[in-house]
Amino acid sequence: MRQKLVVGNWKMNGGFAFNAALLNDIKSGLNQANCGVAVCVPAPYLAQCQLALSGSKIAWGAQDVSAHESGAYTGEISATMLRDFSCDYVIVGHSERRSYHGETDNLVVQKTQRALAAGLTPIVCVGETLQEREAGQTDVVVSRQVNAVLEAIDVAEVERIVLAYEPVWAIGTGKTATPQMAQEVHASLRATLAKKESGAAVKVQILYGGSMKPDNAQELLAMPDIDGGLIGGAALKAADFLAIVQAASGGR
Ligand code: PGA
Repeated sequence: MRQKLVVGNWKMNGGFAFNAALLNDIKSGLNQANCGVAVCVPAPYLAQCQLALSGSKIAWGAQDVSAHESGAYTGEISATMLRDFSCDYVIVGHSERRSYHGETDNLVVQKTQRALAAGLTPIVCVGETLQEREAGQTDVVVSRQVNAVLEAIDVAEVERIVLAYEPVWAIGTGKTATPQMAQEVHASLRATLAKKESGAAVKVQILYGGSMKPDNAQELLAMPDIDGGLIGGAALKAADFLAIVQAASGGR
């Protein structure tokens, strides 16, 4: 049985005072969580998270990582640096990185490998644009994105990744995939994983991301292959984030 996992993706939001209040509210509201909980914050605030969340049930991580190990890569942050702040997770291949920073499947593969090598859990994001969905290309696109990663990692590493299905047209738009639409893609992602390693396919958590909110979380999370959420906007309000955590914990 896969444990559900709810991850907040704060994107480029926050500040010391805002973060302190949000982390405190999440921590104090989390008593009953029966699922994994993590926040992926802007890199400058990792030290703040480490201080605020050490010893709590909440894990933390970053939103991107360099494809390089170390060296003359101005502005980049390595996987081992993230480990220095006790990060457990790092998001790789988010659609905002793919579209605004030209990240290719190949770069996403390299970042995933760096994360794994450093002992981080990469949250590998895949998803189709509206145009690709309307052209009937959803499966082709997401399986291309996930296969690029699967072909490059060892069989034993497959169960160390988390996948996130994030239809690009649903991110930050208020539009959500229906539970059935999302389930269909999640099932097909799991079938793709099974072709590489059937044992791992049943263990890998596949999160849904794209306008998951308190009022739609429960029905999305009830789907058999939806193992949690990658939450953007709703992760910035403690009450909303906690309500999603509660839905993932089986609460009503
Ligand atoms: P959203 O973002 O919940 O604001 O749609 C999700 C994401 O991009 O991870």
